[in-house]
Amino acid sequence: MSALETVFSLEAAQLKYGEGAVNELGWELGRLGLKRVLLVADPVLRDFGVTERVIAQIEAAGARAVLYEEIAVEPTLESLQQAADFAKTQDVDSFIGLGGGSTIDTAKVANLITVHGGEIMDYVNPPIGAGRKPASPLRPLIAIPTTSGSGSEATTAAILDIPDLKVKTGISHRVMRPLLAIVDPGLARTTPGAVTASAGLDVVCHAAESYISKPFDTRQKPADPGDRPPYQGSNPVADIWSMQALSMGGTYLARAVKDGEDLEARGTMMLAATMAGIGFGTAGVHIPHSCAYPIAGLKHAYTPPGYRTNHAFVPHGFSVIVTAPAAFRFTYDAAPEKHIRAAELLTGAPADDPGPDSLPNALIDLMKQVGAPSGIAELGYTEEDIPAIIDGALKQQRLLVLAPKAPERADLERILRESMRNW
Ligand SMILES: [Fe+2]
Repeated sequence: MSALETVFSLEAAQLKYGEGAVNELGWELGRLGLKRVLLVADPVLRDFGVTERVIAQIEAAGARAVLYEEIAVEPTLESLQQAADFAKTQDVDSFIGLGGGSTIDTAKVANLITVHGGEIMDYVNPPIGAGRKPASPLRPLIAIPTTSGSGSEATTAAILDIPDLKVKTGISHRVMRPLLAIVDPGLARTTPGAVTASAGLDVVCHAAESYISKPFDTRQKPADPGDRPPYQGSNPVADIWSMQALSMGGTYLARAVKDGEDLEARGTMMLAATMAGIGFGTAGVHIPHSCAYPIAGLKHAYTPPGYRTNHAFVPHGFSVIVTAPAAFRFTYDAAPEKHIRAAELLTGAPADDPGPDSLPNALIDLMKQVGAPSGIAELGYTEEDIPAIIDGALKQQRLLVLAPKAPERADLERILRESMRNW
């Protein structure tokens, strides 16, 4: 007879946060004894002198930097393979990921393939890939985020687009988590407001989904500790990180979007992203993220205003937030108190008429404040696309099992219909 889970764990990246933190990179390399670094950097950061600053830190530590800048905005199997192939030819003892989630994820996968070999698809989450588990730790990876969103600096996951299968999925294993995250608010000045908006809504969803995920002790206990999933479900420690990130998102996101020079707001959102990353890196995300992958992957009909690139794609945070109000309306009765609490953390005030719409309304209010698309219709989808989005969402079983209430096909259909237009 199988028993319910009784154990949870917190595995977090070391964190160094604050204005000027990046100036301590050289000291950190020295402390760790690292001498040959593959610096995976977003090419746009050269325009702001950020890449040069990091290289100067590496060299001042007496280490050698090899630069790799072929980063895709949303990494594909091909772009990751290219990075891995390059990394394999370099004699390096460590990796630095400098940029947004796409860059840090590229560094994670390059590190994985360099150390353990094989094809990227071997490691991709089943059923899409073979879900191979790396048998030993990777080389040290230092993550230096320059946007405040993915939380990738704190998580075990790398997300990738597989255009041939029209699906976005991920690789997730505890060894992929960076050893150290250096989070410097000064670096977020380079981010356009629209990017801050999408990334910040991603942070809020990470926090809300983790906080309202299936409690860890309602899962089956694994036969072997090695089979315990990285996403364990909500637990008292992850909840602390998620709740704090919700409160910070509610207070600072709109300010951070409006004014790139508002370093208090931008910096707090960077910290919120990392804190939510620690929360969801342990608890997990579910329905909005499961729907986000097909929403971003199926059609490329939306050109986000305010981005530096001019091509059609759905920024990750927007692809997630659009279904969040309806998803939390659906999950409400699985944990009413947590839904109300999440709404109150976001708005910073007690809910006046607590109920199933409290959290959806708080999310919609925030979406409007930061100029998010109103729903999946604005991203180019019609009701006819709903079955294909459901098929894509159902492929994300790794995430869907974390929902506090398991959605059937009909439930996802209702969620997606409601998400066509949130207002
Ligand atoms: Fe996300």
